[in-house]
Amino acid sequence: MYFGVDYHPEQWVFPYGGTAENPEAAWESDVELMVKAGINVVRIGEFSWGLCEPEDGQFDFSWLERVMDLLGRAGIQVVLGTPTAATPIWLTKKHPEILPLDEQGRVKHEGTRRAVCLNSDVFWNYSRRIVENMAKALGKHPQLIAWQIDNGLGGNFTEASFNEDTRLDWHAWLEAKYETVARMNKRMGLRHWGQVVTSWNQMPMPMHAPAAHNPALVLDWCRFCSDTIVQFTKMQADLLHELTPNCPVTTNLRPLLHRFDHFDLAEVIDFVSIESTASIKAKSSELACEIDMLRSLKKSGIRTPDGDTGFWVMEQKAGNVNWQDVNSIVRPGVLRMFTYQLVSRGATAILFFRWRQPRFGTEKFHGAILPHHLEGSSRIYQEICQIGEELKLLAPALEGTKVVAEVCILYSHENDWTLQQPNQPNKFFNLREHIQLIYTALHNRNIPVDFARPSEDLSKYKIVIAPSLHLLAAGEADRLKLYVQNGGTLVGTFNTGLINQHSIAPDTGYPSDLTDLFGLEVLEFDALPPGEENHLAFKGVFPTSHMHPAKLWCDLIEPKGCQILATYVKDFYSGRPALTMNTFGLGKAVYIGTQSHQYFYHDLVSWLRQMCILHPLLKVPENVEVSMREKEGTRVYFLLNHQNSPVRIQFYKPMHDYLTSNTFSGNYDLPPHGVLVLDDHPENKIPGAEV
Ligand code: GAL
Repeated sequence: MYFGVDYHPEQWVFPYGGTAENPEAAWESDVELMVKAGINVVRIGEFSWGLCEPEDGQFDFSWLERVMDLLGRAGIQVVLGTPTAATPIWLTKKHPEILPLDEQGRVKHEGTRRAVCLNSDVFWNYSRRIVENMAKALGKHPQLIAWQIDNGLGGNFTEASFNEDTRLDWHAWLEAKYETVARMNKRMGLRHWGQVVTSWNQMPMPMHAPAAHNPALVLDWCRFCSDTIVQFTKMQADLLHELTPNCPVTTNLRPLLHRFDHFDLAEVIDFVSIESTASIKAKSSELACEIDMLRSLKKSGIRTPDGDTGFWVMEQKAGNVNWQDVNSIVRPGVLRMFTYQLVSRGATAILFFRWRQPRFGTEKFHGAILPHHLEGSSRIYQEICQIGEELKLLAPALEGTKVVAEVCILYSHENDWTLQQPNQPNKFFNLREHIQLIYTALHNRNIPVDFARPSEDLSKYKIVIAPSLHLLAAGEADRLKLYVQNGGTLVGTFNTGLINQHSIAPDTGYPSDLTDLFGLEVLEFDALPPGEENHLAFKGVFPTSHMHPAKLWCDLIEPKGCQILATYVKDFYSGRPALTMNTFGLGKAVYIGTQSHQYFYHDLVSWLRQMCILHPLLKVPENVEVSMREKEGTRVYFLLNHQNSPVRIQFYKPMHDYLTSNTFSGNYDLPPHGVLVLDDHPENKIPGAEV
């Protein structure tokens, strides 16, 4: 297991560190402190283009080599970032046409990072050249174990640019997709407002305009911009694979924050790396959801430096960030707990961002392991040292273990992009919030969850939940039917099947090709403003702990063979079904025609759990998060106390704690933000242990 930091040695040379005689002396003390903390890997180089190529064609990688040599002497491995995330000033001065234009046609200027148009051939050529030179200079260095391509792709709102190069690529992309202009006009519905075109080069980019652009055009634009990012990554990945075939490549991803298809991107890299903002968003179920989404991006073909098949955390924020209005420090124990959350959900490497607070630049008040003044507070350093020691202890047990989920939530970027467009039935509906309600209910019952695109093979899951598949692409309905036909349980919801992949609504009723699967038809749907509610009346099998409201959206359902589990209680559709279940082949298809509050989803999960015989990992009090990693013969449980006070846990059978080697039985008070890592491995003589 790798344990490391993101290091920026270029920021610690004289006069910011070191001495006039030995300008790089600070590197030596840094490495000593790293060794003391148990660090065995660092990431370097990700914004260093302007230093590695200070003038056009003049390369200097020697300083990076010196850092790598030094790290090598300390037994620390290296992940090298290709430096294309920040272009040198000389390059933009020489080729100002690579600067990105925003949707109003305004230039975003040089002087920071990401100031490029990713469709620029000039930029691609220079990028290829710097990556090639870097790989040739450092690719054979014994410390190098992986490449990180670029950094934060799409970040700082740079997913799209509206340059002339972009326009040309856009037209070529459209031509490759539609082949004829007539087909494009037809498929996109460009006859709306008479916006038909007669040649590819008339096709607009969706720039700032008086009214909303055609939704099919905008959806294609999102696909095109995503393909651009994926192809740029692939260009670098191919080059690095060719020059350093033994070095896997990755890139660091924020949880679906940037507008490109993360599943597509995961296909062109060897393993997924993620960024975590545990320090700022301390809601465990939201963080867990993000981690599970990112873990799910790459389910096969994973190649990591040590052969383990998990994902890496390339940037776990070691303290406060600097990009909120108020950047509070991270409380003692919180960093450790959220680091365990990442490990418990499948991380096989943790690197903290960043090693030390820089003394200059925009991130000088960003949290770090070490403060500006090394002699200052070492609170976080101590916590990191503790985590480092513990992970060393855990590594042998965790090797080869995986998170295994029986429940899967479907998510597709295309669907999300569509739902983010204007002119929706209800602008207050938010797909991510809808997903989070469902995810939280599963999370709070400690049920592991995977995410998948609707086009993936779903057969291994007991339950598949498909929240608001507004865009149902060709073939997706068949996959869902096959899944249920073969015995799966599918939960679908309102706002499903309203358009196809061309953004065209079906003329066969809603939810498009799924009416027979759910045994119903949605005749109309009512959008409710926030604060206005209908209510649900339940019949029979569905257990209810609370009164459940119907919010934001109410499908008016005509049952066609389905069983009715709940109806609306007011308005002209009072008595109409709101929750139904249909038997289809060997399986069941549940349909929820509305959005409700969190308690409803808790009840839903209790009901599904019984119906599908789904066991929670362990029974623990609320606010204790449980996850598990397993492999043949080993199950490692992680218990995290998210409360600021102790929680009493009752052990009915003895369990072994990896961190203290204690055996727990009876009552145990898990301290505030405390962590337990337990197992019931037969060697520990506690088979089938349960809490
Ligand atoms: C990340 C980025 C880092 C740093 C960090 C600040 O997204 O990769 O370079 O800027 O945010 O929190």
